[in-house]
Amino acid sequence: MALVLENGIWLLQSSTGPQLLEKAITKKTKAIMPVHWTGRPCCMDKILKIAKKHKLLVIEDAAQGMGAYFNKKHTGMFGKISAFSAHPLKNLNALGDGGFIITSDKKFYDKIKLYRNHGLKGRDNVEIIGVNSRLDSLNAEVLNFRLKRLKSIIKRRTNNVNIYTKKVKTKKVQFINKNKNKINAHVMFIAFCEKRDKLQKYLSKFNIQSLVYYNTPLHLHKGVRYLGYKKGDFPVAEKLSKKVCIKCLC
Ligand SMILES: Cc1ncc(COP(=O)(O)O)c(C=O)c1O
Repeated sequence: MALVLENGIWLLQSSTGPQLLEKAITKKTKAIMPVHWTGRPCCMDKILKIAKKHKLLVIEDAAQGMGAYFNKKHTGMFGKISAFSAHPLKNLNALGDGGFIITSDKKFYDKIKLYRNHGLKGRDNVEIIGVNSRLDSLNAEVLNFRLKRLKSIIKRRTNNVNIYTKKVKTKKVQFINKNKNKINAHVMFIAFCEKRDKLQKYLSKFNIQSLVYYNTPLHLHKGVRYLGYKKGDFPVAEKLSKKVCIKCLC
């Protein structure tokens, strides 16, 4: 995703993102990880082309991509490995935490399967150091059941998004444009407003929930201080997080 200035407001625009992506590749780069953020697919054609040119692995973060399509192909089907989240906030949600990884590569499949179960082969043979990341059978059943409702959930969310974009006429609130190559799963709905806090207060008067995702840009979190980034290193992300980005769940 890239950020472009349009009508004085910074907008996320995934179509220009791939060009910036190529500039960021260094000798140390091993993989590209497109994030289908909010359910809006990344431009996978351009990303795959760059990955091929630089011989890089593509790992899709399809955590929010369940039910989204790019050029009629489901997100998560482009990369070598793709991860989906079934966290309760997602369109396909488990009873608590859950998720799954898909891959078309047998070597990755075997390694991931081992890793998610403490690296155990059988009951008594730890092949690698792993974690406990097994999806329990109860949640797998729940997800199978809820999968049948996924299309109608996305349809309902899309209808709500259409209502917002049709009814909200003011230039003070901006939405991301639709793109004919992309079917958005609308896990979240993004609105941009310079006076975000005022807008949130206004919405709450009508019991319309809105949330800020996220107040702290990634590079300013304590946990990643070791990377050496500081305030000002990502001015666009900082500007967005403080001023213009709100998301209404629908
Ligand atoms: C874009 C993105 N990546 C990764 C994750 C992590 O997913 P989980 O919490 O299911 O591990 C999330 C969850 O919100 C997400 O939105």
